[in-house]
Amino acid sequence: MASIAPSILAADFANLQRDIEMLNASDADFIHVDIMDGMFVPNISFGMPVCEAVNRYARKPLDVHLMIEQPDRYLEAFRKAGANGITVHYEACPHLHSTVQHIRETGAAPGVALNPHTPVELLTDILPELSLVLIMSVNPGFGGQKFIENTYNKIARLHRIRQERGLSFRIEVDGGVNLGNAPLLVKEGADILVAGSFVFSAENPRETIAQLKQS
Ligand code: DX5
Ligand code: ZN
Repeated sequence: MASIAPSILAADFANLQRDIEMLNASDADFIHVDIMDGMFVPNISFGMPVCEAVNRYARKPLDVHLMIEQPDRYLEAFRKAGANGITVHYEACPHLHSTVQHIRETGAAPGVALNPHTPVELLTDILPELSLVLIMSVNPGFGGQKFIENTYNKIARLHRIRQERGLSFRIEVDGGVNLGNAPLLVKEGADILVAGSFVFSAENPRETIAQLKQS
């Protein structure tokens, strides 16, 4: 059974408390919090104050995905705002090992995200330090985009490396996830499915989360 991390990027920001309470009452395992800075990605989402407000009502761990340049500047701030896990982008971190240690020092579980063009093999030397690898299945920046098919292959390769080396990081997939692609993603080795628009545009979001979990 997969773990589900609905992304509040697709929630109704004018009714955030209502949507968080829906997630609290659902089978969701995490709440995925997408932070965009308008530099690393073209879009701007929200920052620490909104993360802190989400945390005030959330009864699920916050899985914070930083799509920002120089994320070291904000690790303590997001930890204080309630992040249980903090994921930074490989492409934004020239000193990735140091950034991962820094995340661990804050007390959060460290994750690294890969853009669609970045091969999983580039993580070879950092994998033992990670709690999570996030495979982007769309180009980061916006919800509601089309799933990139090569993702299956990347997850399968990463899963094989994990098995061969006896490592225990979790594999998360983010972007365009729905009931059509979820079963194969899980079969290839994904442990956590992020879903934004598919959950929040559903007639019955709680039921949709429960169905995704069965994948
Ligand atoms: C994309 C974000 C995703 C996004 C997923 O840049 O990282 O987490 O919210 O949204 P959907 O599920 O609509 O693709
Ligand atoms: Zn995300």
